[in-house]
Amino acid sequence: MKRIRLPSHIAFIMDGNGRWAKRRFRPRGYGHRMGVQNMFKICAHAFHLGIPIVTVYALSAENLKRPREEVEELFDLFRTYFSKKKEKFLELNAKINVIGDLSALPEDIREGIAELTQDTKDRTQSLLNVCVNYGSRQEIIEAVNAAVSYGRFVDEQNFSELLLTAGVPDPDLIVRTGGELRLSNFLLFQAAYSELYFSNKMWPEFSKRDLEKAIENYSARDRRFGNVREEKR
Ligand code: IPE
Ligand code: IPE
Ligand code: MG
Repeated sequence: MKRIRLPSHIAFIMDGNGRWAKRRFRPRGYGHRMGVQNMFKICAHAFHLGIPIVTVYALSAENLKRPREEVEELFDLFRTYFSKKKEKFLELNAKINVIGDLSALPEDIREGIAELTQDTKDRTQSLLNVCVNYGSRQEIIEAVNAAVSYGRFVDEQNFSELLLTAGVPDPDLIVRTGGELRLSNFLLFQAAYSELYFSNKMWPEFSKRDLEKAIENYSARDRRFGNVREEKR
């Protein structure tokens, strides 16, 4: 890749697993399985390029409304990768942080998550946030309720600290695959000034080169944060 400005934090809305599988006359669960494999590949490449923080949207709160069979398949994948095959996460050499309402998950999955989090907690070079049963509106409402229960007013800084992403800087770049142009309840507060990049590739086919293209595109953007920039002469 040519010399570029890397995002410090990149987030992925990993969409399109189902359609990718359907186009291949395979069940949606196959798409999810291939999607997980691609997640490891793309996260490893992002870290390899030097991005210290990666966040992936693995399951939205609303996804639990899908047919039971699909939800069970997704739970089975979490079961596999958060325990039996947890070396896939460990190999990333990152601290793993799982974000979302974990209370809705089966106990064995929660235990796997707790162990993986514990096993990687001292890693400092890279951070991977995995959003599972995550909903941004729910997160914001919980933060508001927490502030109310403490009986205090909040400002931007301490409100951020009540969110599930406390301590994590906002994403510089959010990449959504699958061709849809929306955030689907992902990091609504944190994305205030994130750059958005949409790819028509389905998640299982989103390649390392596609990631590099997204980063090159980001690198060429002018982030003004509401300010003005003096024109270069
Ligand atoms: C994204 O792929 C993964 C999850 C939401 C769990 P989808 O399952 O939404 O795939 P499409 O959008 O139906 O193709
Ligand atoms: C967003 O994809 C959630 C994840 C990628 C985990 P969805 O497929 O659930 O989003 P919608 O329903 O198209 O908005
Ligand atoms: Mg989808």
